[in-house]
Amino acid sequence: MTTEPTPQSTVEHPHVINGPWTREARERAIQDEVREAYIEYFRKAVKVRNWLPWDDIPLDEVRQYGHLLSDDTITLIESFLGIEDYVGDYVEDAINIVRGNRERRNIQLVWGMEEAKHAEAWHLVLLHSGRRTEEQIRAYRDKVGAHRWRMREDHPGLDTPLGIAVYAMFQERATYFNYEELRKRIRLEYGLPERATPEERRRGYQVGAAAAFNIVARDEIAHHGMFLRIVDIHKKYLPAETLDMIFKVIQGFKMPALYLIPNESELKAALERTRLYTPLKHGRSVANPILDALGFENKRALERAAQEAKLLPPGCGPEHVAIGRSGEFVLSITPERTQVTPRRPQTA
Ligand SMILES: [Fe+2]
Ligand SMILES: [Fe+2]
Repeated sequence: MTTEPTPQSTVEHPHVINGPWTREARERAIQDEVREAYIEYFRKAVKVRNWLPWDDIPLDEVRQYGHLLSDDTITLIESFLGIEDYVGDYVEDAINIVRGNRERRNIQLVWGMEEAKHAEAWHLVLLHSGRRTEEQIRAYRDKVGAHRWRMREDHPGLDTPLGIAVYAMFQERATYFNYEELRKRIRLEYGLPERATPEERRRGYQVGAAAAFNIVARDEIAHHGMFLRIVDIHKKYLPAETLDMIFKVIQGFKMPALYLIPNESELKAALERTRLYTPLKHGRSVANPILDALGFENKRALERAAQEAKLLPPGCGPEHVAIGRSGEFVLSITPERTQVTPRRPQTA
């Protein structure tokens, strides 16, 4: 007499990884979690941040208040038009770098759709403020288009799937900070208080160009949050190389394409006069909040964690490892483990 073999379940749970923490198992776990991050990001991009530059910026007010903006503010907006207008190169470069990874490719496509709106927004603000003509803006954007941006030329060593995620996590937060600062500056020049007035809150959008900066800044902080989540997922499954990459980026961060924009020297002079974005402000408002969100009290803690991660025994998974805020690793190994259920990431 024979007995039927016990049927094996063929249904896989996305967060149950069988077997030891091989490189393949880690990459599979990353892919599964990045897919969830992608779906959530895509959903919000389309259903929550569903704005259009041609419909959602109060252009009549941009025209009414445009003459109040200083030349430095106009230079800064024009420079951000240039940086944003390299979107085609950012997307093309990133898609080639993440080739073979569907989730990361799709993130770059949706991200590019959102980013493409930003240059259009600054184009409209410059034009309707009455400070640049359509001809001038076209000539400026044509000069931008005459150059090609590449990650490996602007930021050598960051042209890997992990490198572009870590870099984007910093760049998006820095862009958010710059746009928030510029929004406050515009409000000051318009003669408005820094925060939205009760009337602006009631109607749901700020005055003129401040509305545009408020909307675009919201995109940028959402992008930051999405890349932070991607980096956090990598840190969980591949701590040594992820922490190394974060340390590398934090050491030498600079904004993209600055050397390529047509008004580079005017931008430098405007930044010196306005102090819009200084190394001190970068530390306080960009690098430190990122370190905090990744669970580190300072850069020294990150450096320590990056060193200690290299000493982890092979086969250690996220269920064995906790990292303290000062960068120390705490290990707990249970050898009888047969199944691993990774935790969900803490950041959103
Ligand atoms: Fe942008
Ligand atoms: Fe962005």
